Amino acid sequence: MPVILAEAPRDVGIGIRPALVRDLPRIMEIERLAFGEQWDYYQFKASLDDVFLLAVDAATADIVGFLVACCCEITRRGIILRVAVHPDFQGRGIATELIERSLGELKKKKLDEVELDVDILKGGAIGLYEKVGFQVVEIFSPSEENDDTFYIMRKKLG
Ligand SMILES: CC(C)(COP(=O)(O)OP(=O)(O)OC[C@H]1O[C@@H](n2cnc3c(N)ncnc32)[C@H](O)[C@@H]1OP(=O)(O)O)[C@@H](O)C(=O)NCCC(=O)NCCS
Repeated sequence: MPVILAEAPRDVGIGIRPALVRDLPRIMEIERLAFGEQWDYYQFKASLDDVFLLAVDAATADIVGFLVACCCEITRRGIILRVAVHPDFQGRGIATELIERSLGELKKKKLDEVELDVDILKGGAIGLYEKVGFQVVEIFSPSEENDDTFYIMRKKLG
């Protein structure tokens, strides 16, 4: 008789793999849902040489989330530029897994720390980053014309 689990582990059935050029249309679709298409196709294409990871539904092979990070060799710092999970798949630990995996990749590149910025209004994203060990180190507003304010968050790669 099959055993039915009351609650399946949150990350069951999700795999992580590097992004390829053929994945870009689906990544753009998730970008549109998550951010309203702030990055265009060419920005994503240029990022394929960076740390560009995808979360993939193992049952369907559908891409359900992505993370883009780059490395600054001079400052020995990695920068997480983008994390997004398709709305239908949020709340299952997928962004957490993408970030943990990216930290592993950045550590392999012998960087000292990882940085990101996040809109102070994005409470969910801030909670996510704190959960994986990032701390707010600075607050900045890029322009005086609008009210956007961001936290810079950092985590040491030990
Ligand atoms: C932010 C985002 C990437 C989170 O993806 P996710 O796979 O749902 O995140 P996880 O399931 O790994 O969540 C991990 C933790 O983050 C926090 N969190 C994530 N989404 C949250 C929300 N909507 N409200 C409150 N806390 C949230 C919680 O602390 C959560 O831990 P918990 O479930 O144990 O409480 C996703 O909501 C998204 O794509 N949003 C739109 C794009 C975006 O804002 N990206 C971040 C830009 S800075």
